[in-house]
Amino acid sequence: MELKRKIYQKLLKWKSGSNGSSALLLTGACGVGKSYLCEAFGSREYKSMILVDFSNASKDIRDIFEYDRYDLDMFFSKLSAFYNTVLYARDSLIVFDEVQFFPLARQLVKHLVTGHIRHWINSEESFHTLWGIHISCTPEI
Ligand SMILES: Nc1ncnc2c1ncn2[C@@H]1O[C@H](COP(=O)(O)OP(=O)(O)OP(=O)(O)O)[C@@H](O)[C@H]1O
Ligand SMILES: [Mg+2]
Repeated sequence: MELKRKIYQKLLKWKSGSNGSSALLLTGACGVGKSYLCEAFGSREYKSMILVDFSNASKDIRDIFEYDRYDLDMFFSKLSAFYNTVLYARDSLIVFDEVQFFPLARQLVKHLVTGHIRHWINSEESFHTLWGIHISCTPEI
């Protein structure tokens, strides 16, 4: 059973308000449902989505960030090929989950967003609250 989250409405506002011109950083205590929310939002509200989980990203993935960051066409083509997912202009969501494990990806967000109009969400674990997510180490969903 899926629980409804208030934050979903905020994500919808962000999607329509920014129309691909900004990234969103989603933080919250472990187990509150950040990854689940991103997957649900991405699969419902976009034509396609890629979720890069940096807690287990292979060297091939990390190399795309390292070596293809200055050629964004190549960058997105490789990402698309690697995840076997077509990316659509303004209608694809790319999630960087557990981005704290790969600081380079975090650094590149601005470059990626301004260089290429797409929607981005950064999702990472930290002990901040945002949009009413409770600070807790026990799942509160
Ligand atoms: N809206 C929801 N309805 C039902 N189950 C949910 C919902 N959100 C999260 N869950 C479940 O709660 C558990 C924790 O969710 P999730 O892994 O998304 O948390 P997280 O914030 O990404 O945790 P971490 O910080 O450890 O990565 C998962 O088993 C997930 O399936
Ligand atoms: Mg998670």
